[in-house]
Amino acid sequence: RKNVGRITTGSKALDDLIGGGIETQSITEVFGEFGSGKSQLAHELAVTVQLPIEKGGLEAEAVFIDTENTFRPERIEQIAKHFKLDTKKVLKNIYVARAFNSSHQILMAEKVNDLIQEGKNIRLVIVDSLTSHFRAEYVGREALATRQQKLNQHLHTLQNLATTYNIAVFVTNQVQARPDAFFGSPTKAIGGHVLGHAATYRIWLKKGAAGKRIARLVDSPYLPEGECVFKITEEGIVD
Ligand code: GTP
Repeated sequence: RKNVGRITTGSKALDDLIGGGIETQSITEVFGEFGSGKSQLAHELAVTVQLPIEKGGLEAEAVFIDTENTFRPERIEQIAKHFKLDTKKVLKNIYVARAFNSSHQILMAEKVNDLIQEGKNIRLVIVDSLTSHFRAEYVGREALATRQQKLNQHLHTLQNLATTYNIAVFVTNQVQARPDAFFGSPTKAIGGHVLGHAATYRIWLKKGAAGKRIARLVDSPYLPEGECVFKITEEGIVD
């Protein structure tokens, strides 16, 4: 893969764990319990993608597909201030799309093509959360196959965006505490089978003591498994 770009997470330790920041031409899935920091990472990246390359960004804009009303402009402002960026400009460079149900979410992802055709310099697409609507709408055993099929269609769209436009895709996925409940990863299903060439990174987030978070890289195509610690503060994600 040529010209892969990287976006800093704000934490050097976490960047190092995943090979220098989240990658373009890939899907990065972050999963963990409620409150583990998935949305915080999403907000951080929506800011850091705008930084110059030497500061860990791509001097570009972000799309934030928000399925649970988690997008917080005030949080973006706090993080932007930490990087001494103009908060108004930073907010203007984040295209927030609220997705009301799973079909709408699929449509919003397809619409990213239009934004790019209009000349927007989008290098990051966030879906927070990837799975909530699908879980709520396709309930029970008999709906499972349809759910995975719809999710695959959506992931296919996201993967195409990633590879066609050299974009980083960042998706969140809320799961229960127990690691053995992780089977059936939505992104791995497609990364492994449908689109063999697609790199997919999976990061498991856990809560530690005193505002600390533990990130564990799992099922990575190129990198060794490992763990690191970072913090969520007023300024965003830090070591
Ligand atoms: P859900 O979206 O609830 O599923 O969980 P999540 O994993 O996305 O959690 P989220 O990213 O919203 O993280 C919430 C946690 O981030 C809170 O429990 C706080 O510890 C931390 N956090 C959020 N905002 C701030 C802030 O402004 N300052 C500080 N210090 N911590 C914050």
